[in-house]
Amino acid sequence: MSPLKLTGLSKRYGDTAVVDGLDLELRAGRCHGLLGPNGAGKTTTLRLALGLIGADAGVVELLGHVLPEQAGQARARVGVVPQTDNLDPDFTVRENLQIYGRYFGISKRDMAERIPGLLDFAGLAGKADVPIATLSGGMKRRLTLARALVNDPDLVILDEPTTGLDPQARHLIWQGLRRLIGQGKTLLLTTHFMEEAERLCDDISVIDHGRVIVQGSPRDLIKAHIEPHVVEIYGDGLAEWQACASVWCRRCEQAGETLFCYTDAPEQVVAELETQPGLRYLHRPANLEDVFLKLTGRDLRD
Ligand SMILES: Nc1ncnc2c1ncn2[C@@H]1O[C@H](COP(=O)(O)OP(=O)(O)O)[C@@H](O)[C@H]1O
Ligand SMILES: [Mg+2]
Repeated sequence: MSPLKLTGLSKRYGDTAVVDGLDLELRAGRCHGLLGPNGAGKTTTLRLALGLIGADAGVVELLGHVLPEQAGQARARVGVVPQTDNLDPDFTVRENLQIYGRYFGISKRDMAERIPGLLDFAGLAGKADVPIATLSGGMKRRLTLARALVNDPDLVILDEPTTGLDPQARHLIWQGLRRLIGQGKTLLLTTHFMEEAERLCDDISVIDHGRVIVQGSPRDLIKAHIEPHVVEIYGDGLAEWQACASVWCRRCEQAGETLFCYTDAPEQVVAELETQPGLRYLHRPANLEDVFLKLTGRDLRD
């Protein structure tokens, strides 16, 4: 059984089809990444998947339950990390977990037993009795993740779990997510960090305008959609040199001050660049961000 299956899912707000015939099927025990530019419909898709809002068309099957009729039963086995932290600022770390446990009918006594493990998981041991306001952004995010685990869910849905965090805090969250994957839980996450998706996710769906545009493992997407080598070029004399690059490379794209050259055979362009003292360059393998930008464009969306 797929932990989450969305079929022909649609949702309009006013004249806009925010989710537009979207299909998605998660594999149990895998981490699935939902990628897309701002406004692509990621958060709306997650809210539809949880039955928090109703669809205009389509079917949501969450852990074998059809929504909206069986939303309660399904959500009992799901953990959620929303895009914006909604911890209660008037309560301590421990109280936030206790209150959340109550939604799942977990007794105070059972919660008291679970809380040390959850805090340990979140790297917040010793913080049980501090007010939320004293936590850093990274700590709040980790607490929200711990809170999503109070009901020991089979499926954890995370909406931008690491947005706004510094690299250290992000790595701590990644560690936690990898532990969850190791425990056999299914994860569905959205992220703007392609490195995050590439490291954590077994499967990726890129969505735009409410539709899935491509789907596959990070490696397969890179292989299918992008040339294997990228040479990023910047510096003095770039404009004069651009014509040469486009002769040697299959595809060149200018973004800001940088020329991105995509190629199967980087040797010639790299050799030529060595003779250009004003130009600087970085030769690297293609990655998921290259795929994402090729498919969704480089224009700002917000
Ligand atoms: N409750 C709502 N009412 C009206 N428009 C909405 C509502 N929720 C989302 N939208 C619009 O739907 C689009 C997709 O939003 P969202 O799902 O949050 O995108 P993403 O999470 O991919 O950035 C955006 O244009 C947003 O403004
Ligand atoms: Mg969103």
